[in-house]
Amino acid sequence: MSSGVNSLSKYYGEFGKYLKDHDVFLRSANINKDIDFLIKALDLKKSDSILDIASGQGRHANAFAEKGYQVDGVDFSKYLLARAKKDRSKKLKIESTYTLANVENLRLENKYQKAYWFFSDLANINIPKVIASINWNMEMGGKVLFDTDSIFRIVSYLQTHDQTNLIFDAFNLELIDKKINLRVPYPTLGMWNSWFTSNGFLMERVVGNYDFSEYSISSPRLIMVVNKTAQITRVI
Ligand SMILES: C[S@@+](CC[C@H](N)C(=O)[O-])C[C@H]1O[C@@H](n2cnc3c(N)ncnc32)[C@H](O)[C@@H]1O
Repeated sequence: MSSGVNSLSKYYGEFGKYLKDHDVFLRSANINKDIDFLIKALDLKKSDSILDIASGQGRHANAFAEKGYQVDGVDFSKYLLARAKKDRSKKLKIESTYTLANVENLRLENKYQKAYWFFSDLANINIPKVIASINWNMEMGGKVLFDTDSIFRIVSYLQTHDQTNLIFDAFNLELIDKKINLRVPYPTLGMWNSWFTSNGFLMERVVGNYDFSEYSISSPRLIMVVNKTAQITRVI
């Protein structure tokens, strides 16, 4: 394991800084808005089998359960999964379930009709491997939403803020955090598209934010909805 992977699992662990670093964001985040966005973007029905990829502390999966949707979450942080289970409402008929797993090697019991990877952290992730791993767990015709940071947003941020730890590797399209030795990939839309087509998905829709605005150089997010059109048969 590289020190980057170690520091990443520490970051999301019990003594890690993830929840603290995002305290203001998480307090002010409007979960109902996220949920409404996901329902519209993925045409979610209460009868759908739904997977929350890298579900963290379960803020979306638990909110979905309160609205009558059954969502299963997967994440590699034992600590965040324990928080997610603790935060589940006891009174509901529908209960979100949580499984400890690395998104690069998902082999879940169920196949899903809908899935979302919301507010993704791509640090140290082999993206084509994750796409293939998600394919394996989806039903044919299933839809997946990938919500990622925008390369345009990060470049514009770095150009307007003095940074000591963060540099952008323009050759490999990666943000490097020198302090904790992390590399975060920022693939272009074209790169994503070729990974989707070679891993059994067809791109259906691209938007630049949660208000469905058009993807452009001013977009804060790159959000893609894909459709499973072929089953991955090779060993991942
Ligand atoms: C920025 S958080 C977002 C969590 C959640 N989707 C949300 O919106 O609150 C990123 C999540 O990805 C998880 N994660 C990162 N790399 C992972 C991997 N390789 N396998 C599984 N989970 C991973 C982290 O534990 C964390 O919960």
